[in-house]
Amino acid sequence: MILILLGAPGAGKGTQSERIIEDYNIIQISTGDILREEVKKETELGKIAKSYMDKGELVPDDIIIGMMENRLKQDDAQNGVILDGFPRTIAQAEALDKLLEKLGKKLDVVINLEVPFDVLVNRLTARVYCSVCKKTYNLIFSPPKIEGVCDVCGGRLVRRDDDNEETVKNRLNVYLEQTQPLIDYYKEKGILKNIDGNRSPDEVYNDIKNILENIKK
Ligand code: AP5
Ligand code: MG
Ligand code: ZN
Repeated sequence: MILILLGAPGAGKGTQSERIIEDYNIIQISTGDILREEVKKETELGKIAKSYMDKGELVPDDIIIGMMENRLKQDDAQNGVILDGFPRTIAQAEALDKLLEKLGKKLDVVINLEVPFDVLVNRLTARVYCSVCKKTYNLIFSPPKIEGVCDVCGGRLVRRDDDNEETVKNRLNVYLEQTQPLIDYYKEKGILKNIDGNRSPDEVYNDIKNILENIKK
């Protein structure tokens, strides 16, 4: 199964991916997570990516497409993947279509999480995540039991560099200009499912599960 989680920054792509991978035998590929690892390791790619990410701009398509081509060919991606944060431009979506065709695979569904922008700003500026196991928390909506400490592994909770208000606003503008057109792109292909993402994570996940159960049949 190959599914895309589409949605603006803060829509809940990462949060829902955590749930999906627990119940289904598939992996999550988050371009944002891969890029943040490269930034942390201070690789050449990481240095280039950081200059875009810190401003809330998209990393150039050719870099992302090359990176995903390699990632999708790896062994652990053969059973099924959740694409989280990719594609994000029409050029990336077209490259993905070609790549999947080459690999003899097909895209099963695109799940679009809809959340109003004012809610997104509140979610992102209150997000923290575990520096060790990467679990995501929210200081308003889902705080950890002990401040600054991961419930699961005891790791230290940190903020993302791009979760400050100014960068968040730019990320949302970039989404409107470059990523939102993908909604029509996939609607025309007949594989788009819209979900109201402005409910509790459990309610959102229930809808996702219903969609995925129908695909498996
Ligand atoms: P990326 O890491 O993909 O960030 P993003 O798209 O901005 O999305 P987020 O990870 O911020 O949001 P999310 O939807 O995963 O929300 P989450 O579940 O964490 O990309 C970062 C940067 O990398 C980009 O700006 C770009 O520079 C670069 N990049 C990445 N991919 C690229 C690509 N393909 N092309 C070019 N450049 C690329 O939830 C957010 C918060 O809300 C959390 O605190 C969570 O606990 C909370 N929350 C979640 N769901 C709910 C709910 N239902 N109710 C209440 N709170 C909730
Ligand atoms: Mg995410
Ligand atoms: Zn942890």
